[in-house]
Amino acid sequence: MSRLDGKVAVVTGAAQGIGETYAKALAAEGAKVVVSDIADPSRVVDEITSAGGTAIGRIADVTDDGSLAELVEAAESAFGPIEILVNNAALFAELRLTPIMQISNEEWDRVMTVNMRGTLQTTKAVVPSMLRNERGKIINISSGTFYYGGPGLAHYVSSKGAVIAFTRSASREFGDKNIMVNCIAPGLTVTEGVENHPDLHVARAPTVQTRAIKRDMKSEDLVGMLLYLASEDSDFVTGQTFNVDGGKYNQ
Ligand SMILES: NC(=O)c1ccc[n+]([C@@H]2O[C@H](COP(=O)([O-])OP(=O)(O)OC[C@H]3O[C@@H](n4cnc5c(N)ncnc54)[C@H](O)[C@@H]3O)[C@@H](O)[C@H]2O)c1
Repeated sequence: MSRLDGKVAVVTGAAQGIGETYAKALAAEGAKVVVSDIADPSRVVDEITSAGGTAIGRIADVTDDGSLAELVEAAESAFGPIEILVNNAALFAELRLTPIMQISNEEWDRVMTVNMRGTLQTTKAVVPSMLRNERGKIINISSGTFYYGGPGLAHYVSSKGAVIAFTRSASREFGDKNIMVNCIAPGLTVTEGVENHPDLHVARAPTVQTRAIKRDMKSEDLVGMLLYLASEDSDFVTGQTFNVDGGKYNQ
């Protein structure tokens, strides 16, 4: 028996990158997974089902309440109430480094809306399903750039700091409803988006030098923490942010 057998999980931003790895890892551990993204998630669904897992795909925009309501309805009618939510969708690999003095109000709002308000909106859409399930695990995704500052990414870094703050508030509001809310702050992770990024791939080698574990970080390095936070192993843990970064920052 696997740790997440039969549990229903939703992963946002899962059509590629780290979200794809999260969705595949949850399915491999026995969860029934809703692979959700603003982009077409069908390749990831096909790969999960070919490997013997259970998944459906759903195109959903985390900033659109109507689209999120349809996502929850699709999840419940396919699999039943949702227990695990991974708030992974964000604007990241598509962002270009922009000095603070050149960040427009519109760009600031766009990043905050997807990365922070999207986390709020998805949480609000999914919590009623978790209440029907009488149990829930919300895993928010921040970033190690929150600790470092990340020049050229003030909008992104601020949005990821807000995700940590939101995690703390949500854990206090949902604790007595048996819904645990935690957060993962990944270090620079080599995905296709990072490899093809005009600036971020240059940060790879210097980042490795600042880690205790001196190698590139892969999406798979996040799976152990994800499964811990999704499973009963972490049932007395809530409101926490976990750095998974090869020992770059010590708290
Ligand atoms: N790769 C890294 O180095 C790194 C480091 C720290 C944190 N993170 C965080 O991990 C998560 C995944 O990172 P990634 O590198 O795979 O990012 P990515 O940019 O490659 O993928 C993000 C995904 O989110 C989706 N998305 C964007 N806007 C959306 C919306 N409005 N609604 C639904 N989906 C939307 C995109 O289509 C994409 O599939 C993000 O939250 C990111 O901030 C990444």
